[in-house]
Amino acid sequence: MTTTLWQTDLPNLLYRGKVRDTYDLGRGILLMVATDRISAFDVVLPTPIPEKGVVLAKLSAFWFRQTAHLFPNHFLAMADEPEAQRIAPQVVPTLPPEIRRRAMLVRRAKRIDVEAVVRGYLAGSAWAEYRSQGTVHGQPLPPGLREGERLPEPLFTPTTKATTGHDQPLSFTQVVDMVGRSLAERIRDATLKVYSYAHDRALQKGIIIADTKMEFGLVDGQLILIDELLTPDSSRFWDAQGYQPGRSLPNFDKQFVRDWLTQSGWNREPPAPPLPPDVVEKTRQRYIDAYRRLTGEPW
Ligand SMILES: Nc1ncnc2c1ncn2[C@@H]1O[C@H](COP(=O)(O)OP(=O)(O)O)[C@@H](O)[C@H]1O
Ligand SMILES: [Mg+2]
Repeated sequence: MTTTLWQTDLPNLLYRGKVRDTYDLGRGILLMVATDRISAFDVVLPTPIPEKGVVLAKLSAFWFRQTAHLFPNHFLAMADEPEAQRIAPQVVPTLPPEIRRRAMLVRRAKRIDVEAVVRGYLAGSAWAEYRSQGTVHGQPLPPGLREGERLPEPLFTPTTKATTGHDQPLSFTQVVDMVGRSLAERIRDATLKVYSYAHDRALQKGIIIADTKMEFGLVDGQLILIDELLTPDSSRFWDAQGYQPGRSLPNFDKQFVRDWLTQSGWNREPPAPPLPPDVVEKTRQRYIDAYRRLTGEPW
């Protein structure tokens, strides 16, 4: 068993994503390990950000617990919690501490292949669409909105979950065609409800969650939230202090990385260049700062 913060190596690897390694523990349970890999412009960088995976795992766990009363989810326990030993007694005690603190036990679901995106602010591809056509996700919006402006109300803007290439927008009717009206409505309503709740909580802590992406799955016919929840990797976080629509809106976590990569002249085709130590350290601090602020817990 090797343990690097870059790649984990346990039996029964089910899936290796850009950031997380997922293992099948049997009996409907998965172990999801968040590594310290970081991606930018859709490319995994050669340099890890120490403890980033720990932040991601703990932040997801925080939100799964905070929103469980709003909608059920797949979270069972962090692997370093006593509860985990009871759920997976064969595996958890064998895990090195460095894996345990960045791993969670979750219920294995049958994934629904929709990215449940919700946007509260005008950013990224939504801003690009609004600027050229005055719409977001095909829906007309009032004229004169600026980049980063808060939308009159949060919008559900689902996309495909592309295995290769970029995700494509899905109209609500297309989601209905894929999963049926009842599931489509429940996915939309849960996404909006969880986002609005988290947005208001985060704002009290000085962080704007501009948009986020959720995933859903079915366990024994029950619809639940899966994957990661409201992390800097699945969401756009802005610092509420200094937030001003129409001005540059620094992405809370990866801004140093993106800026450095851009000024390095890298053409955004893999492989990416290694990051210098000061960029790594500043980025690490940003992740930890987001965690501290959102949870109110020390690091
Ligand atoms: N409870 C779950 N049951 C089954 N699959 C899940 C569950 N939670 C997350 N997944 C899937 O596991 C994978 C995690 O991959 P991830 O590390 O996010 O990499 P990437 O997003 O780059 O594919 C995703 O395909 C996600 O849909
Ligand atoms: Mg993912």
